[in-house]
Amino acid sequence: MCGIVGYTGFGNARDIVLDGLKTLEYRGYDSAGVALGGDYIAVYKTAGSVDALNIPDCAAHIAIGHTRWATHGSPTQKNAHPHLSFDGSVAVVHNGVIENCEQLKAELVAKGIKFASDTDSEIIAHMLALEGGDMRAAVEKVAGRIVGAATLLALRKGDDRIYMLRKGASLAVGVGEGECFVASDTLALGKYVRSAYILSDGECAVISPITASFFKDGVKIFKTPTEIKRTPPTPCACHMRSEIDEIPTALKRTFLSVLDSVDETLLSDVRNAKRIFFVGCGTAYHAGLYGKLLLEKLLNVPCEATLASEFDGVRLHGENNYAIFITQSGETADTLQALDRCKRHGIPTLAITNVGGSSITFAADRTLLLEAGAEVAVAATKSYNCQLLAIYMLAKMANGVGFFANLPDELHSAIQDVYGADLYEERIRTSNLFFIGKGADYVTAREGALKFKEITYKMTDAYAAGELKHGAIALIDDNSTVIVTLTNPKDKHRIAAAVSELRSRGAYVLAISAVGDVGADKTFALPHLSDDDLYPLLSVIPLQNLALTASLCLGYDPDKPRNLAKSVTVI
Ligand code: F6R
Repeated sequence: MCGIVGYTGFGNARDIVLDGLKTLEYRGYDSAGVALGGDYIAVYKTAGSVDALNIPDCAAHIAIGHTRWATHGSPTQKNAHPHLSFDGSVAVVHNGVIENCEQLKAELVAKGIKFASDTDSEIIAHMLALEGGDMRAAVEKVAGRIVGAATLLALRKGDDRIYMLRKGASLAVGVGEGECFVASDTLALGKYVRSAYILSDGECAVISPITASFFKDGVKIFKTPTEIKRTPPTPCACHMRSEIDEIPTALKRTFLSVLDSVDETLLSDVRNAKRIFFVGCGTAYHAGLYGKLLLEKLLNVPCEATLASEFDGVRLHGENNYAIFITQSGETADTLQALDRCKRHGIPTLAITNVGGSSITFAADRTLLLEAGAEVAVAATKSYNCQLLAIYMLAKMANGVGFFANLPDELHSAIQDVYGADLYEERIRTSNLFFIGKGADYVTAREGALKFKEITYKMTDAYAAGELKHGAIALIDDNSTVIVTLTNPKDKHRIAAAVSELRSRGAYVLAISAVGDVGADKTFALPHLSDDDLYPLLSVIPLQNLALTASLCLGYDPDKPRNLAKSVTVI
C-alpha cells in the first residue's frame, strides 16, 4: 500500500526521500513521486517504479515522496503523488480513501479550480492552498472535513517545515541532528534515527530541520519516542524463498518473545472469557481459524474466527467477551476497524503482530510480538507459522502447561525434514487444483490454496474433505489434482474414503500425512511431533514451497504478485 516519506534538514533531501521510498517498495505500489521544496516546489512523478523517477541532482533540503497504490484513478503519471495545489504553493501526499470526495470536489470546481488528476487526494492540496494562514491549523481543518482515511504530508513553498496528520494509516517521525524525517513505516527511518514518534490517530505534527512538534485538536502535546527495532531486510533474489528458509529461526524468536510476554493477567483474561473472537484477514484469519479450534478444544470456551471485514457489532453483546486480533503488519485497516469496534463495546483486546510500534500495538490492550523478522514478500509465510506458534503457546499456557521442553529444537529438526518435500509436478500447474483437509488440516488446506492463488494467479480452492461430496466433487475428473493434508489420526478413515472416491473419479491425489498411507498416488510423510496440535505449523510448509515453485516455474515474481500489497491500509 502507499508509502510516505518526508525529510527536512541539512542533508540531501532528494537522496534521503528516494532511499526511503526504495525501502518501502516491498509494500507494493504502482506509481511514485517526489516533491522538492524551497523557493518553489518541483514535482517529479512516474508510473511504475521509483527507479524510473528522473530527478536531477539538486540542493533541496526539504522533500516529500510517495509510492501509490491506485484506488481513485488509474496508476498513471498524472495520478501519482505528490499533488500540487492550483497555485503551486502546496504539495501533498496522501494515504487513504476520501469517501466524500465527490462533494468536496464539487465545492472546489464551483470555485473555479481545475483538477490535474483523477485522484481524490488532489482535493487536499487545493483545500490547503485555499485555507492559507497557519498551515498546521489548515491541515487539521481540512482533515476534519474529510470523511474516510486521510493520512497526509504537506509542504509549502518557501517553508522549511513539513506538516502532517494521521487519519487512518500510520506515520512515524524521526528527529536527528539538524534534520527530521517522517515515514509511513519505521523501516524507512531505522537507517537515520534510533527511535521514532509514532503518531496516534488524529494527531498532527510539524517537523523542521531542528525540531518536531506534535498536536491534537490544535493543542500541543508531548510524545515519547519508541525504539526502532526493525531493520530493512538485506536485498536478495527471492524474499519468499529466504522467508520460508528462516521459519525455524523465526519460530525460535517467537517462542522466546511469547514466553517473555505472557503473564498471569493475560492467561486469566483468556481463561475467564465466556467467548473468544479471533479476527484477521487473509492468512492472519487462517491463523485465527486454528486458534478457534485449539482454544475450543483445550479450554472448552466458545470461540469465533471472523474475517475482519465481516466483523460487525452484532455478536459483541454479552459478558466476558475477549478478542484476539492477528495481523502480521499491524496496519491492516479492516483489522484496526474491527478492534476499534470491540473497544467501543468495552471488550478487552489482544494483538498478535509481527511489527513492534505498528498501529495495532497502540490500539490493543495487550500485544504479543512475533519477532519473526521483517517479512518482505507479499505472500505471508514465516509470519503465519509464527502466528500459529504464538496461539499454540497461549492456548497451552492458558490450559496449564508451564513448560515447553525443547520446543524450538523439535520444530527446527522437523522442519529440516519437511523442507525436503517437493510436491511440485508439471500437472500442478496444468490441471485443476484442489486442497482438502479436515479440522485443523482444513485450515492448512485453505492457507495452501490462498498462497497458491496469490502467486500463481491460478484458480484453486480448498474444501473440507467431508464437504466435497456435497457439491465440489462434480468438478473432479482426470484433469484434477487434489492435495490432501492429514495430521489427525482420528480422521484417517474418513480421509481415506474421500481419497478413494476422488481417485475413482480420475483425480490424481497427493497426500501430506502424519498418519501413514491413505491410498493417495503419492504421499509425503510428515516427521513425528510430540503434540498433534503442532502439526499445522509444519504441514503448511510443503504448501508454501509448492506455491513458490509453481510461481517460479510460471515465470512470475513471487515476491510482488500483481494487484496485491503487503500492507492493506485502506478499507
Ligand atoms: C496472504 C497475505 C494476506 C495477509 C492479509 C492480512 O499471503 O499476505 O492475505 O495475510 O492481507 O495482512 P496482515 O496480517 O498484515 O493484517
